[in-house]
Amino acid sequence: MKKKIINIGIVGCGRVFDHYVKIFNRRKSNDFKVHVVCDKEKKRADRAARIFKSQKIYNFSLMLKKFQNKLDLIIILTPSGLHFEQSMLALKNNFNVLCEKPATMLASDALKIEQLSKRKNLMFGIAFQNRFNKSVITLKKLYKKNKFGKILLVNVRLLWSRNQSYYNDKWHGRWRLDGGVTNQQAIHHIDVARWIFGPVSEVNSMMTNQINKLQAEDTNNSIIKFKSGATGSIQVTTAVRPSDLIASLEVIGEKGFIVLGGVALNKIENFYFKDISKIEKKMIEESNEKVENGYGNSHSKIIDIAIKNIKNNKKSFPISATDGYATANLIHSLYKSDERKKWVKVTNNVKSSRLGR
Ligand SMILES: NC(=O)c1ccc[n+]([C@@H]2O[C@H](COP(=O)([O-])OP(=O)(O)OC[C@H]3O[C@@H](n4cnc5c(N)ncnc54)[C@H](O)[C@@H]3O)[C@@H](O)[C@H]2O)c1
Repeated sequence: MKKKIINIGIVGCGRVFDHYVKIFNRRKSNDFKVHVVCDKEKKRADRAARIFKSQKIYNFSLMLKKFQNKLDLIIILTPSGLHFEQSMLALKNNFNVLCEKPATMLASDALKIEQLSKRKNLMFGIAFQNRFNKSVITLKKLYKKNKFGKILLVNVRLLWSRNQSYYNDKWHGRWRLDGGVTNQQAIHHIDVARWIFGPVSEVNSMMTNQINKLQAEDTNNSIIKFKSGATGSIQVTTAVRPSDLIASLEVIGEKGFIVLGGVALNKIENFYFKDISKIEKKMIEESNEKVENGYGNSHSKIIDIAIKNIKNNKKSFPISATDGYATANLIHSLYKSDERKKWVKVTNNVKSSRLGR
C-alpha cells in the first residue's frame, strides 16, 4: 500500500518557525512534506522555502486558493492577533489547522472556531505543547490518583527577562495583537494550572509596567480562587535583568507537594508525598527532560499527533478550541480584574476591555 504523505503549509516564518524547522528535521518518519511556506515578508518566505525545498507565497489568502485540495494541514505561526482570522479563513476553505498559542485573543472567538471546525468536520488544534511534557503528565497522574489530598495552593511564578527591543517590533506587547506577560509568556503555565486544577472561580489582579514600555503589562500579580476551594497566585514578569530567573508551578496539597520548574516546565524540582509507591517515585524521578530553550521538547509530540490524526481521518485534537476558550476566558478575567480594580468572577465569556481590541 502506498504510504500517505501529509502535505503541510506553514504561515509565519519568524522566530517560532525556526523551532518548527528543528522539529521537522529531527522527525524520524518521512510521512510529511512541508509543501508551501507563506510570510508577508518576502525575505522570510524565501529563506523558509530554501530550508524546506518547498514552494513559497507571500499572501495567506492566495495560498489557500492556490493550494486548495493540495494541503492536509495548515500550521499558523503568525502574531497572536492574526490567529483567529487566519484559522477561520483556513477552516472555511476546508483545511485542517494547527495553531500556535493563543488560538484567539477574544475567548468568544475560540467558540466560533470550535463551531466551524465541527460543522466542517475538520481538525483544529492549539500548540499548548507543555501539556505533553513528562513532568506535566506526571503531575496530572498524581493529582488524578489523589496523591495530594485536598489541594491547598497552586502558584504560577514566571520571572523572566525581555529587553525593550523585544517590544519594539510591530506586535509584541500590543493589546490587539499580543497582550503582556500574562497572555504571551505565562499563558502556558496558567493553562496547565487551569487544565489540571481548574476551574478557577475568582481572580484579583494588579498589573503594572515595572521597566518595559509596552501597551500591555510587563508584570502581573494576581491572587486566585479555584472552585475546589484551593487558593493560588500568579506572579509573572518580564522585568528581571539581566536574564530569566525562574518559571515554576508549585502545588501544595494536604498530603504532598510538588514544584515543577525548568525553562519550559520540564523538570520536577522538588516533591513530597505522604503515600507514594516505588513505581510512582520512579515515575517522578524519570519525568525530567533536557531542553534547549523555553520552547521545550513537546512540539514534536503535537506534530506527531496532528499527523497521525489526519492520517487516521480523526478530526479531533487533544487541545481543542474549547480548551483554548477556557484558558482565554481565565486570562480575560485577570485583565478585567486589573481594569476594575476588584475581584472578578470567572463566569462564561468574561471580556477585558483591552485585550484583543
Ligand atoms: N508555543 C510556544 O512556546 C511559542 C513560543 C514562541 C512564540 N509562540 C507563538 O507563535 C506566534 C509567532 O511568534 P514568533 O515569535 O515566531 O513571531 P515573529 O514575529 O518572530 O514571527 C511572525 C511571522 O509572521 C509573519 N506575518 C505577520 N503577518 C503575516 C501575515 N498577515 N501573513 C503572513 N505572514 C505574516 C511575520 O512577517 C513574521 O515573519 C505567536 O502567536 C506566539 O505567541 C509560541
